[in-house]
Amino acid sequence: MGSQWGRDSAYTRALREGYRSRAAYKLIEIQDRYHIIREYDNVVDLGAAPGSWLQVTRGLTRGTVLGIDLSPVAPLDGVQTLVADFTDPSLPGQVRLMLGTVNVVLSDAAPRLSGQKSYDQARAIALGEEALAFACRVLKPGGNFLVKTFQGEDFNRFLADIRDHFLSVRTYRSRTTRKGSSEIYIIAKNFVNTHEAEGPL
Ligand SMILES: C[S@@+](CC[C@H](N)C(=O)[O-])C[C@H]1O[C@@H](n2cnc3c(N)ncnc32)[C@H](O)[C@@H]1O
Repeated sequence: MGSQWGRDSAYTRALREGYRSRAAYKLIEIQDRYHIIREYDNVVDLGAAPGSWLQVTRGLTRGTVLGIDLSPVAPLDGVQTLVADFTDPSLPGQVRLMLGTVNVVLSDAAPRLSGQKSYDQARAIALGEEALAFACRVLKPGGNFLVKTFQGEDFNRFLADIRDHFLSVRTYRSRTTRKGSSEIYIIAKNFVNTHEAEGPL
């Protein structure tokens, strides 16, 4: 017998509670444990569609919430969205203009899976690296970053890259993650801007 976090129960619970995806519970678990989003934070969510992390985030902060995805996100009260590829080099500048300060970057982005495990893992890490690069270009010093990735060959290198930019880095495997999946979240707190690359707005 699975736990209350088994696939079906999380899915039906999401439907019942009005979340657009069972992924909502992953962010709720992480927030309960690591407190990555604070009351007045401006938050950018990369790979935001269909929008359950945006729903959870909207309830956690009075700041601005911006979701970015390749696919449109159906409108949500009090949430801004952009249809864009977050690997586009012009996007961090655009986001800084829209939000001014960015306190938190979330990324639940995932590439379309091919089913070939090591290939998919490498692409997921590459997308995670892009999310890290985005975060480093927009985050205010002291800001937080949460990214989904997959354990495998390049995982330790990715973790080391994140440690270069944040004072505290942890990993977390969600109870809602499907059995057999190598999905893992990296929680990075307290951004240190080592190169001041962007300068003032
Ligand atoms: C697992 S879903 C995110 C679910 C979301 N966290 C939620 O709670 O509803 C992953 C998303 O990443 C998006 N994605 C993948 N690569 C992207 C990119 N380069 N730029 C923007 N979005 C991307 C996909 O379009 C997909 O909607």
